[in-house]
Formats: sequence, C-alpha cells, structure tokens
Amino acid sequence: QARTFFVGGNFKMNGTNASIKKIVEDLNAVDLPSDVEVVISPPALYICWAKELLTNPTVKIAAQNAFPKSSGAYTGEIAAPQIKDAGADWVILGHSERRTIIKESNEFIAEKTAHALENGLGVILCIGELLEERDGGQTLVVCNRQLDAVIEKVKDWSNIVIAYEPVWAIGTGLAATPEDAQATHSEIRKYLAEKLGEDQASKIRILYGGSVNGKNAKSFSACPDIDGYLVGGASLKPEFVDIIKSRE
Ligand code: G3H
Repeated sequence: QARTFFVGGNFKMNGTNASIKKIVEDLNAVDLPSDVEVVISPPALYICWAKELLTNPTVKIAAQNAFPKSSGAYTGEIAAPQIKDAGADWVILGHSERRTIIKESNEFIAEKTAHALENGLGVILCIGELLEERDGGQTLVVCNRQLDAVIEKVKDWSNIVIAYEPVWAIGTGLAATPEDAQATHSEIRKYLAEKLGEDQASKIRILYGGSVNGKNAKSFSACPDIDGYLVGGASLKPEFVDIIKSRE
C-alpha cells in the first residue's frame, strides 16, 4: 500500500515577517523530493505572507486551528473558508497544546474536524497521550478515545492525516524510539481498520510528532506504519530540509 510520505512543519506561535520570509525562501531554493508532501503551518497572521512568497509547488500551507462555523460573531476565531481564501489547504486540529492549555475537548475537536473537511480543508488530526497516561499503560485507550470522537462524526477519512504525538516527547528533545512509535502506529492503524474498514485504514497517513530533528528523522521513516512527521521546533531551522529529505 503506497502512502505518500508527509512532512508537516508546525511553527506554533513563532515567527515574524522576516523569519517566515527566510524559511519560505529557503524552501523555495531547494530541490525537494517529488514523492513527499510538505505542509508548513505558520501562525494564521502569516498565512497570506507565506502564500505570497511560496514558489515551490511541493509545499502547501496549513492553519493551526479553525472554528467550526463558516462566519459570524466569534471574536478572535478564524473560519475554514477564510483559511482557504488565504491560500491554505490544510488545518492542524487537536494539537496537544490546544487540548491541554486551551482545554479543547475531544468532541469540540471532532466538530472542528468535520466542519473543516466539509469546507474543503485537509485535516492534520493530532492525538497522543500524556506521560502519566503512558506510565499507566493508557496510551492506546487515550488515542482510541480521541479517534472515537472524530469517527462518530466523520466517515470519510480520505482527507485526514493523523499525527501521533506523545505529549511527553513534544519539545523535550526526548523523541519516542522508532520501535515504540512503530508499535503505537501499528495499533492505531489496527483500530482504524476495526472502525473504518481495512481499505480506509490502509490509506490513512499516520505521522509521528515529538522532537523529530535532522538527525533522528531517518530512523522513523524506515518504519512501515510511520508515514511522515509533524515537526515543531526543527521546522523553524534549516534542518527542516534534511527532515524532508530523510527518506532519500
Ligand atoms: O506539532 C508539532 C509537535 O508538537 C512537535 O513539536 O518537534 O518541537 O517536539 P517538537
């Protein structure tokens, strides 16, 4: 089953006009492999700027959030149609920073996912367990619960990419081992097969996220159920290109 390798760069709440210009121009200047999908996610304020600067057709843009309404009196929120209008094709939803800091529930994330898909965005759906949940042997219970909320609302997963991000590995420099990540990815795919059928499950990209860098990326890309990465900190650095090329 051929799943196109996918590398996302989540800038989180980082960047300025000048630094985002530099990142995009650096991506424009390199020959990226044609069999990899690359999606960068600047803060919403800079989506138009990134779009304007981007000339490399391999690279697409994602927003980091979207509200589940198309317009209206929702001060401070942004809508999927606006994200499309600004030139992005994807949105990251369910990131652990939004789950834990902003306290978004599984149900709210599912509602956002359904709405974004209905409005033509691809969704990078993040799931993953906290350290205490991992220590308590709850990794799959937590991931499955996070998936269940979306499965209830969305039957066609062809425009969803899952990012498995163990929260303890995010921004810590302590990435999961490729063996651990592969084992969890394989269980996630099994669960998706149970709920959505073998055919859909075999086509869904499952990315690993959590302290991926230019040095460790290669070790993950060799794993059969790891279909790419969602990169945070390293996506702001020149090594992002090494990560994109890590499968060569
Ligand atoms: O969305 C990206 C993840 O949260 C990973 O972040 O690469 O800085 O650990 P990180």
